Amino acid sequence: MRDVQERDAELIAAARATQALSYAPYSKFRVGAALLGVSGRIYAGTNVENASLGLAICAERAAVCQAIAAGERQFLAIAITSDAAQPTPPCGACRQVLLEFAPALEVVMVGRDGAVERWPLEALLPRAFTSFAGADGSGGEEAR
Ligand code: THU
Repeated sequence: MRDVQERDAELIAAARATQALSYAPYSKFRVGAALLGVSGRIYAGTNVENASLGLAICAERAAVCQAIAAGERQFLAIAITSDAAQPTPPCGACRQVLLEFAPALEVVMVGRDGAVERWPLEALLPRAFTSFAGADGSGGEEAR
């Protein structure tokens, strides 16, 4: 099995490569994300902005959509890259979407010059909303 350093290097390289394809003409903030599935496959995503600014799609959620469409739903780690000096943490919406599939995900954030920060997703989104129940008490099952 690959060691964690090798795994992270591969994930970070995939995130960087996808970051270069970012469509961010408005913010100029390019983000890359690479999500590692339990199968060992990597799913990459980048941010896609729009003239209607609120429609921007984050790199992390783009990566999740790639994975789900490929039939993978369990994940081990995600690398997130940008050109910010400090490692870029995922936004709140992306934390929630990632947590749907992988509460124990390891989030590897990478800054411009390669500084790395690692966080368990559960620490980034404590006391998360994960299920709902109808007013009559029905529902609330874990989705699958
Ligand atoms: N962005 C991401 O892709 N991921 C994040 O977690 C934070 C923000 C993108 C959205 C937008 O295109 C740009 O960064 C500026 O917010």
